Amino acid sequence: MSFIKAGVIGHPIHHSKSPLIHNHWIAQYGLSGEYKAIDIAPEELKAGVQKLIEEGYAGFNVTIPHKQEIFKLCEQVDDVAKAIGAVNTVVVKGGKLYGTNTDAFGFIENVHQSAFGVDFVHKPAVVLGAGGAARAIVYALMEAGAQQIIIVNRTADKAKDIAEMNTDIIRVDAWEVREKILRDAGLLVNTTSLGMTGKDALEIDLALLPKDAVVSDIVYAPLMTDLLKQAKSRGNQIVTGIGMLLHQARPAFEKWFGVLPDVTEGLERKVLS
Ligand SMILES: NC(=O)c1ccc[n+]([C@@H]2O[C@H](COP(=O)([O-])OP(=O)(O)OC[C@H]3O[C@@H](n4cnc5c(N)ncnc54)[C@H](OP(=O)(O)O)[C@@H]3O)[C@@H](O)[C@H]2O)c1
Repeated sequence: MSFIKAGVIGHPIHHSKSPLIHNHWIAQYGLSGEYKAIDIAPEELKAGVQKLIEEGYAGFNVTIPHKQEIFKLCEQVDDVAKAIGAVNTVVVKGGKLYGTNTDAFGFIENVHQSAFGVDFVHKPAVVLGAGGAARAIVYALMEAGAQQIIIVNRTADKAKDIAEMNTDIIRVDAWEVREKILRDAGLLVNTTSLGMTGKDALEIDLALLPKDAVVSDIVYAPLMTDLLKQAKSRGNQIVTGIGMLLHQARPAFEKWFGVLPDVTEGLERKVLS
């Protein structure tokens, strides 16, 4: 079997958990290959990517700050990445780049595997935040059949921009009314960076949220955010953020290494330690 090279490009990149995840799977499935973290500064993106092509890379993940700029270097970008407005996975074929985005897959897989009977099809899904991750999550929810999505964000214009994806399904409300709109929700997702270690707290009282609603937080440091603690203590099912990170890596790994890997508790423990 030939040796397969893959990696993640970004700047900075030393913090990335992706090498740990992909190299774990390479070992688990007895494959021949390696996955590296590759620091490429913004002004060196084109030359840096060309070097990877010349070195025979099968592909790479793309993270901040290259997720938009990489579009220009791709021969083709699929519909998912276009809708989300970001490429996080590239396959190299015949010296050309083909871009996609696996964040939406990662989010929805994690919700379905972690929560039983989650209903965002008949009941509204409330999304806190309107950054890059929110766009992928709103797209994922629509693809999975959501009929009503309410986005609330500190900067309303960013939420309105995401709502343009489908104004029949997506509604924007003010950040200040985030507690009132929980009344009929089937799913609440925090996609802001609030609640993350070193960031401000997410201030929200879940009193109006139905007890059968599922609460998901994509922040995974800490794993049990204050939002998830509050949800759990009142009996709501919760979905932690680490699963999204692990599941989004699966289709990328499959594209390069030909195996769709599993997310195991062992891998989760390794990434969190
Ligand atoms: N689990 C995973 O796999 C995964 C994947 C992607 C991201 N994440 C995590 O998700 C979070 C967001 O990532 P992102 O890429 O979407 O970031 P981003 O594009 O920078 O968006 C940040 C979001 O947080 C909001 N926000 C930040 N500070 C705020 C404050 N003080 N008050 C109210 N809102 C505030 C922003 O609101 P404004 O628009 O008003 O600035 C925006 O909606 C990060 O913590 C990231 O680590 C996790």
